[in-house]
Amino acid sequence: MKFLCMFLLAALLKEAGAAGCYAGTDHPMCSASTCAGYCTADNGCSCNDDVTLCVPTTQCTTAPALCCPEGFHWDPSSSCCSDKVVSPTDVVHCSPLCSSDEVCVYKSGVATCVCDNSTYRNKTIADLAPSVTCDSSVMIVSVSKCLLDALGYDYSSFQLNDKSDSCNVTYSDVINNKRVHSIEVLARTGSCGNVVSSDSSKVNYTNTLHIGNKNSPFVTKNPINYNFTCSYNLTMQTSLNFSANAVSSSVNITADGVGSVPVTMAAYKDQGYTIPIQDTDTVIVGSDLYLGLFTQFVDGEKFALRVEQCFASPINDPNYVNKVPLVTGGCPANQGVYTEVNVNGAGLEARIKISSFTFQDQTKLFIFCDVRLCDKTGTCTGCNVGRAAGADTSQVGISLSLEGDNSYSSSGSHRAVSWAVLAASLLGPLCTKLF
Ligand SMILES: *[C@@H]1O[C@H](CO)[C@@H](O)[C@H](O)[C@H]1NC(C)=O
Ligand SMILES: *[C@@H]1O[C@H](CO)[C@@H](O)[C@H](O)[C@H]1NC(C)=O
Ligand SMILES: *[C@@H]1O[C@H](CO)[C@@H](O)[C@H](O)[C@H]1NC(C)=O
Ligand SMILES: *[C@@H]1O[C@H](CO)[C@@H](O)[C@H](O)[C@H]1NC(C)=O
Ligand SMILES: *[C@@H]1O[C@H](CO)[C@@H](O)[C@H](O)[C@H]1NC(C)=O
Ligand SMILES: *[C@@H]1O[C@H](CO)[C@@H](O)[C@H](O)[C@H]1NC(C)=O
Ligand SMILES: *[C@@H]1O[C@H](CO)[C@@H](O)[C@H](O)[C@H]1NC(C)=O
Ligand SMILES: *[C@@H]1O[C@H](CO)[C@@H](O)[C@H](O)[C@H]1NC(C)=O
Repeated sequence: MKFLCMFLLAALLKEAGAAGCYAGTDHPMCSASTCAGYCTADNGCSCNDDVTLCVPTTQCTTAPALCCPEGFHWDPSSSCCSDKVVSPTDVVHCSPLCSSDEVCVYKSGVATCVCDNSTYRNKTIADLAPSVTCDSSVMIVSVSKCLLDALGYDYSSFQLNDKSDSCNVTYSDVINNKRVHSIEVLARTGSCGNVVSSDSSKVNYTNTLHIGNKNSPFVTKNPINYNFTCSYNLTMQTSLNFSANAVSSSVNITADGVGSVPVTMAAYKDQGYTIPIQDTDTVIVGSDLYLGLFTQFVDGEKFALRVEQCFASPINDPNYVNKVPLVTGGCPANQGVYTEVNVNGAGLEARIKISSFTFQDQTKLFIFCDVRLCDKTGTCTGCNVGRAAGADTSQVGISLSLEGDNSYSSSGSHRAVSWAVLAASLLGPLCTKLF
């Protein structure tokens, strides 16, 4: 009885006081020009440049319930922030709407979505089943917030293998109309303790989501450690990013209707184009060498990457007079150096295989390619022998360190010697033509 009286008295006092709409006297309103107000559940509608509270303005019309100062709630009947006492029979308005496992209640004077305890009453840890989303470059793992709560876990304790603050990228989200808490990590070597494994076709990034107990005097549950993995196909791009010191270079090219886009050329050891040659590697003369060219950010439906010509030079000068053609008009030049053009003009990657060779007495090989983005409404594949590099092509080049296998060449290695001879014999006619 005593309690009821006190409650009534408190209610009466409140009614008698500043009941009704917020007048803006307790907290000065921000002037419209400086208040870049934003709405969050925690701080109402506060200003970026000072911490005073704004009352709902047009900025807050999308989520008025969240825009009231502390002690006030959104009263839709009078369209204002009100401190009128809410009776349990009043309709409660949450904005944005609550998800299916939440209910809308007045909490500290604000209409707030809270977990609907009945939904998860009989659930166990086996029902957690976190969902993992593997985006092109981020892995996101999401867990039902209300279920965690019901099981006695603290979603704000989410951590990855790397527990530093920079790896605490968490947020609340709604998936399938259920409230979830998500944490994300870049799908990248070295990011937030990712464990990386790869074979010739795939790269897997694994990390662990650690979830701690809610702070309570009794520890009745073990913390959760949930391993999650995203598996990505190794493309030239991912394999190159996978290796820090790849022999590669990029150039920006343009095409009609497309801005400047980067094109990268890199050298690979394997025909899957997954093992980039490192800048510390030496290439054995005569071994197969795979040149990969690729571009990102381009509409692959409309454009293809086409290599018009490639050539090799012993010095870092694309205009070197005795350079050796590898590809001309998009097809193998077949002028002494064995070349296969495996993919060209068909997509956003071009693949060229050559047998590595060296110029006599040189240990470096520079390879230059003229590339362009080709509008697929025209012809982008096949040979175009008459076509030289034009204004629409850009040049990209790489440099390799070569090593003739001396032990073999001194005892007459056929391949190592024959490529050197071929290159030399090729230079003969070129020189004759030029002089
Ligand atoms: C759900 O349970 C928690 C405590 O377990 C309680 O604080 C909360 O008010 C309950 N929510 C509802 C909507 O009943
Ligand atoms: C939980 O289990 C009890 C009996 O074990 C059952 O009566 C009740 O309906 C269940 N609740 C839910 C939400 O499944
Ligand atoms: C992560 O950051 C949020 C705030 O952004 C904080 O509430 C939470 O406690 C942090 N988690 C850890 C494990 O530090
Ligand atoms: C990557 O993960 C997939 C399944 O997620 C598995 O089949 C494959 O063996 C894994 N590969 C490596 C290299 O770990
Ligand atoms: C989770 O990954 C860690 C390595 O990060 C490993 O030691 C542990 O055995 C894995 N746990 C499970 C259940 O696979
Ligand atoms: C990955 O490669 C396989 C073939 O190896 C292909 O079927 C699949 O579509 C590829 N996945 C993606 C996302 O590119
Ligand atoms: C490698 O990853 C970075 C992001 O860390 C990205 O900006 C870059 O484009 C990637 N490089 C290649 C060649 O894909
Ligand atoms: C390509 O353009 C971007 C900006 O558009 C620039 O940051 C980058 O350095 C350019 N790369 C090259 C190789 O010119």
